[in-house]
Amino acid sequence: MITVGILTVSTLGAAGQRADTSGDAIRDIVSAEPLSAEVRERTIVADDRAAIESVLRHWADDLRLHLVLTTGGTGLSPTDVTPEATLAVTERNVPGLAEAMRQESLRKTPFAMISRAVAGCRGTTLIINLPGSPKGVRECLEVILPVLPHAVDLVTGRNTSHS
Ligand code: MTE
Repeated sequence: MITVGILTVSTLGAAGQRADTSGDAIRDIVSAEPLSAEVRERTIVADDRAAIESVLRHWADDLRLHLVLTTGGTGLSPTDVTPEATLAVTERNVPGLAEAMRQESLRKTPFAMISRAVAGCRGTTLIINLPGSPKGVRECLEVILPVLPHAVDLVTGRNTSHS
């Protein structure tokens, strides 16, 4: 069973001024088939690099979650710092995941071009940035969902075969 942490990055959400519908969307998708993952952790932080990095480090180093999905803070506004926080804590970049999400998302919206989402590994945890809207979350997860079980197997060292 894949263990998941959902990190919503939203200053308004962290202040209790906006419902976390994107976090809800991630939870609904990953806990349902085909992934049937276990959502162990879920929290909201403001668009604050240190706060984001701190949660990512804790979930990877102490809780050893297999997969962390972030939502929000990947755009171009001066407060968007989720990719920088993710790159600061990951040891290995996994560019193909972000490339695939952007490529497929471009079929739905040209605004996919301005997502700066990244993905990478910290220890045995795979961390992936998703956009901030529930629509963006659903569209991007749909793209990467089929490869997540194998990706997690490889990152955790549970299985190195490609069958
Ligand atoms: N990707 C998909 N699939 N669907 C979307 O609606 N929205 C885009 C982009 N990626 C979107 C998407 C928009 S409008 C922005 S600004 C960027 O993601 C960054 O979003 P964020 O700053 O909320 O993370």
